[in-house]
Order: sequence, then C-alpha cells, then structure tokens
Amino acid sequence: MRIAKTPAAIQRLARIWKQDGVRIGFVPTMGYLHEGHASLIRVARRRVGTAGKVVVSIYVNPTQFAPNEDLSRYPRDLPRDLRMCRAEGVDAVFLPSDAVMYPGRDAGGYSTYVVEERLSLGMEGGSRPTHFRGVTTVVAKLFNAVLPDIAVFGAKDWQQAAVIRRMTADLNFPLRIEVAPTHREPDGLAMSSRNVYLNPEQRAQAVVLSRALRECRRRVARRRIPATELRNQVMAMVSACSAARLDYVEFFDPDTLEPVARVGKGSRMALAVFFGHTRLIDNGGL
Ligand code: PAJ
Repeated sequence: MRIAKTPAAIQRLARIWKQDGVRIGFVPTMGYLHEGHASLIRVARRRVGTAGKVVVSIYVNPTQFAPNEDLSRYPRDLPRDLRMCRAEGVDAVFLPSDAVMYPGRDAGGYSTYVVEERLSLGMEGGSRPTHFRGVTTVVAKLFNAVLPDIAVFGAKDWQQAAVIRRMTADLNFPLRIEVAPTHREPDGLAMSSRNVYLNPEQRAQAVVLSRALRECRRRVARRRIPATELRNQVMAMVSACSAARLDYVEFFDPDTLEPVARVGKGSRMALAVFFGHTRLIDNGGL
C-alpha cells in the first residue's frame, strides 16, 4: 500500500495509473475508520474491479469545523486506520497535513473556497453555517489531487452527498459520485467516528435516532401524514430521553432536499440530536 503525503505525490501516482488505463476509485474520510468506511471502500473496489486502484484519504479537515466544534478532540488512530486500509486491499492512502492543504491559511496565504449555494443551506447547513463551505472546498481539492474516476460517499451524510454531487456537476469534475448505504450497529445506531464520545447512558439512548426513523417509516407506509404531525411525534420521542436534545428533524425530497408538507413513501427524513456536546445525525428513506 502506497502512502502519499502531498497532492503532487498522489497526482504523480494517479497519472502513472491513468496512462495504463487503470480506473481510480476514491473514498474521502476523516479517519478513525469503522465498518461504515470499510463498506465504502468495498463499493469503490467493486466499481473499479481488481485491475483498478482504490485510494482512501485520511484528513481531519479544519475548514469544515466551526471554532466551537470538536476539531481538536476529533478521534484519531492512524496506525489502526492504516491496518484497516491494508486489510481492505486499499492501493494508496492520501495523508496530507494542514500545512500541505492550506499553506499559511492563518496568515492570509490561502484564500480560495468552493461554495454551493442551494442544497447546503438547510439542515446541517442551518445548524453549522460554515460547514459545507469547508466540505466542498476540501473535497474539490481532494478530487484535484487524487484524480478519481469514481468517488464513494455514505448515505449516512445524505445532504453532504447531495451537495458534493451538485458541486461535481456544476464544476465539471470528470468523475461519478456513488452513494453507499448506511452501516449500523446491531441496535440500529448509525456507525460514526463520533460515537466514541458517548457515555454509557448516552450510548443507550442514542438508538432514538434510528427508532424515530423506523417509527416515521411505519406511519407513512399506510398514508401521507403532515410533516408537523411527524415532527411533533419525533420531538416527543427525543424528549423522553433524558440525555438527548433535538437539534432538528426535517422531511424532504431526496433529490432537491426541499421540505415536504405532506410526508409519504419516497420522502426522506433527517434528524440531528445532541447528547451533551456530541451531535449525532441520521437519515433514511420513508
Ligand atoms: P467521515 O465522517 O470520516 O466520513 C467519510 C465517509 O464515510 C462519508 O462519505 C460518510 O458519509 C461515510 N460514512 C460515515 N459513517 C458511515 C456509515 N455508518 N455507513 C456508511 N457510510 C458512512 O464525511 C466526512 O468524513 C468528511 O466530511 C469528508 C467527506 C471526508 C470531507 O472532509
């Protein structure tokens, strides 16, 4: 497995592979890898085949964290991440530093950002106003470094995948975006690097996100239901958990992300819930 630490180094590898007609599949991550990430790596491998190359990036991107967020304590375990990549048959890991990605950012030496102005406004963008600007910027930079033919994102972050898909189309990146299903713990909790922050009580109550999804799915299976009614029910479910505080719950069109007033099969639902300082998100088709 190759390890590249600069855009120039991974571009060099990518160009050599491309000269031989080899396809490149790419999985961007912030590390602290879990089975959800592994499932994306397997999708990338299936898409490019055994003759293709799979690249994983591991980079905790500072520009997508607000000053009050968990950048400094975001969990990291590089040796374990590299073992997992090796075990999954990854061909190269792109491992840039802040100095390489944003040279002189604090001193005015870096000043270009990519901003998606529609799909990124609600939900995560509403709660975290500068978040998607950081995501689109770093993903554009990662695409330019890795030069992939396909890139795989998780449905766990549905809005992120939609924003990236739009950016890819709008800016003519010559690659395909794939979205892979959410990997869950046996009790339904969506896997996330941030789950390690939860204490036992919070961990036990964190199933409320997937339970809320299941309950709404069950209710709209029979008939369309006003979003306000479902929202009230989800608020009640979350209020019943002493350690939980609802940030938002939205019902929306899966492609445009526009809110829907009457929720039916084919609508999608997303929610964010605080457990102490830890903010968990989940979403699913109804
Ligand atoms: P990170 O949270 O590490 O997630 C990397 C990728 O793994 C994302 O596409 C995310 O949707 C996917 N993922 C996370 N948990 C998952 C699960 N339980 N099942 C399936 N896929 C899952 O998302 C980011 O990093 C960053 O914003 C990034 C895109 C790398 C830009 O910095």
